[in-house]
Amino acid sequence: MTSMWALRILSRFLAMVGTIPRRKDGTVHRKLADLFEWVISANPQRADGVVAFDVVVDAETGIWVRVFVPAQGMGGDSSELNPKADEMMPVIVYYHGGGFVFMKPNVTLYDQFCRRLAGKCSAVVVSVHYRRAPEHKCPTAYNDCYAVLEWLNSEKAEAILPANVDLSRVYLAGDSAGGNIAHHVAILAAGKDLSPLTLRGLVLIQPFFGGEERTAAELQMKDPLIVSLELLDWYWKAYLPPDSNRDHPASNVFGPYSRDISNVAIPPVLVIVGGLDPLQEWQMKYVKEMVTIGKKVEVCFFEDGVHMFGQLKQIEIAEQMLIDIASFLENREE
Ligand SMILES: *[C@@H]1O[C@H](CO)[C@@H](O)[C@H](O)[C@H]1NC(C)=O
Repeated sequence: MTSMWALRILSRFLAMVGTIPRRKDGTVHRKLADLFEWVISANPQRADGVVAFDVVVDAETGIWVRVFVPAQGMGGDSSELNPKADEMMPVIVYYHGGGFVFMKPNVTLYDQFCRRLAGKCSAVVVSVHYRRAPEHKCPTAYNDCYAVLEWLNSEKAEAILPANVDLSRVYLAGDSAGGNIAHHVAILAAGKDLSPLTLRGLVLIQPFFGGEERTAAELQMKDPLIVSLELLDWYWKAYLPPDSNRDHPASNVFGPYSRDISNVAIPPVLVIVGGLDPLQEWQMKYVKEMVTIGKKVEVCFFEDGVHMFGQLKQIEIAEQMLIDIASFLENREE
């Protein structure tokens, strides 16, 4: 029960974070939002078997990444990285949630989550800071996140990343808006030659998809934890181009205006769905449509999963989600 209490308090707090900095005219009071986004600097010391450091990808746009590397041996900082040198490590490029509007990789919640993800998957996690809405609307987030894939292939990245990163095993992962981004970045990447970088899979954790239609879950969940319908609608307004609605192909990926992606090479997808998440039916629709056009998709359904449950270490099933993600990766490596 304690964890339910902790969850309710946290949920109220997150609801405040998502509400107070929003202005009526659709803009965000950034300074105020920053106050709520408790940040932490990258910890170069080994903590839970992982070291972290920040790298600027593009000074002009402000894109930067926080890199998490599983390391072994005594202490050491990132300058004397001692990664698990005997094995090559896959890379998980991670896009955080926050409705395309809030959060960044150095928010404590995401820093800790990516550290756990790196440890559990024995993977280098590259957590991306992309430009956010409403200051930067669709498709800026997609393009920024795609740019990080090109950067991963560059000599600049090679000089900074540990020698045993295996670019032939790259996964795109993200939660909520970040899950939406992972899907769209995979489509951007499909037409390009990124070799040696190869996408092996997508991990969409409670991805933020939507549409004009109202699903039963959206209508029936009167007071869902973490995200209200009003907040979700506001996020879409903030992110989608002016004069568009939630049927825009960015949000309604299998909607009336979306393009046919049956011939687009999308790697196998894992979708995490929560039974207490108002977005669950959009996610299940995504799964169904992807399967219909012949894509490989797996689902992990958590009946007690509220939106964002996997990022909240207070919730017991969050650990199971990490285990499921790790085994999805393992199964892709055979
Ligand atoms: C966190 O990220 C923001 C936005 O990029 C940056 O301005 C700030 O300096 C960072 N703070 C820490 C402690 O990493």
